[in-house]
Amino acid sequence: MSSVLSPEMRRRAGGRDLQIVFDEQMIAARVKELGAEITAAYPDGEVLVLGLLKGSFIFLSDLVRQINRPIHLDFLVASSYGNGTVSSGEVRLLYSPETPLEGKHILVVEDIIDSGRTMQRLMTLLADRHPASLAVCALLDKKLLPEPIPQLRWVGFTAPPAFLVGYGLDHAEDYRHLPFIGDLL
Ligand code: IMP
Ligand code: MG
Repeated sequence: MSSVLSPEMRRRAGGRDLQIVFDEQMIAARVKELGAEITAAYPDGEVLVLGLLKGSFIFLSDLVRQINRPIHLDFLVASSYGNGTVSSGEVRLLYSPETPLEGKHILVVEDIIDSGRTMQRLMTLLADRHPASLAVCALLDKKLLPEPIPQLRWVGFTAPPAFLVGYGLDHAEDYRHLPFIGDLL
């Protein structure tokens, strides 16, 4: 899908021309479906939704409002593995909830799975805290991994092999506030 930005959106994007890949309506419809599936998947027990900052913040806020059961909500902050293209495999948690995860259903909400390294490492770190279950809901998945991450239970959309921005996703902190997901081109 592609379309020309309205003058208003163009202004928001700093005059940059972006190709819309997932528009507001598509995202809202999919988020609603995900919320319903997540609601059905947790008939009982304590659910702790953990949003991985910063990229997930808009998706997270829309998604939790479509979850029709009690939840607790907190955040995770992971150190990025730098700006190189080669991963050191070192992902550390700079912030994680102090409350015990033991016995709770943990649902990690992420913006995009690219190489998958961040999420793979995060799964090991969280599994060490013995949750009752551990699952991931990612808005986008570039599907680059030969084997999908076993805990990746919900994916909003398969992402094209492009650099995507908007709806929380950034390029050098730009574009996070755009209501659609676009290709930086
Ligand atoms: P991974 O460890 O390679 O899967 O990287 C995942 C993280 O890289 C995501 O949480 C994003 O913050 C960032 N990222 C990967 N691809 C994109 C993109 O296309 N646009 C914006 N951020 C991206
Ligand atoms: Mg991110």
